[in-house]
Amino acid sequence: MDIQDKVIVITGAARGLGEAMALGLADKGARLALVDLDSEGLENTRRQCQQKGVEARTYPVNIANEDAVVGLFDDVVGDFGALHGLVNNAGITRDSMLVKAKDGKIVSKMSLAQWQAVIDVNLTAVFLCGREAAARMIELGVDEGVIVNISSIARAGNFGQSNYSAAKAGVAAMATTWAKELARYNIRAAAIAPGVIETEMVRQMPAEVLNQMKRVVPLARMGTPGHIAQTLEFILENDYVSGRVFEIDGAFRI
Ligand code: NAI
Repeated sequence: MDIQDKVIVITGAARGLGEAMALGLADKGARLALVDLDSEGLENTRRQCQQKGVEARTYPVNIANEDAVVGLFDDVVGDFGALHGLVNNAGITRDSMLVKAKDGKIVSKMSLAQWQAVIDVNLTAVFLCGREAAARMIELGVDEGVIVNISSIARAGNFGQSNYSAAKAGVAAMATTWAKELARYNIRAAAIAPGVIETEMVRQMPAEVLNQMKRVVPLARMGTPGHIAQTLEFILENDYVSGRVFEIDGAFRI
């Protein structure tokens, strides 16, 4: 895919990896539909994209809501008249041990609310956005469409993250499923599983925790949002890429 002039939806575009991917695609001339709950952050990303000379519009939408997602893709197709790509990036964490015990007594459990919140945003919303994007691309008769799900190294299973790990394994599996189901409609699908990436959220962690993180990464440093943006561009541009998960983690395994 030549990214120039392609219409690409990015969820979670107000900050972090979503913002970096939006700016990377803007550098290559994409037309961008930026989605997030955070209107102020969205506007900031939109302004930066526009300064690069591309069309960028904002959609303040809760992607965990089915009606809102259907409306979002109606709006995007209405506004741009086309749809070529979707980056399922928005995500949240609600970490907790499955169960925690002291002296043989259970002192805490992961609540259903913690489980459900993460499943709603990190798994169900990816399904909803993927479904609606694929439906629109097929109806529009795209020559080439691409869906990219942002997974995580946590998909292998991570301490305190039953909810997040399950969702991130799920979005990797959906990318492979969609690659098989949607190939006949000229739609490719893939996933990126980042390791520890230096976003604002990560930078705010205590120095001790950050140093510990760096020690366990064989490359002895964190990845940057630019590394993830670069991988997204590779997936979009290489038209023989489909159905695979790209692990961008400095050789770190949980
Ligand atoms: P972030 O927390 O900085 O940004 C996530 C964005 O998603 C926020 O702007 C938030 O408002 C938005 N969002 C959350 N719930 C939403 C909803 N229901 N509807 C619309 N927007 C919503 O996160 P970051 O670090 O940029 O991560 C982006 C993705 O990459 C996430 O899926 C995360 O799980 C994944 N990831 C991040 C890693 C890291 O080290 N930063 C490592 C591995 C995966």
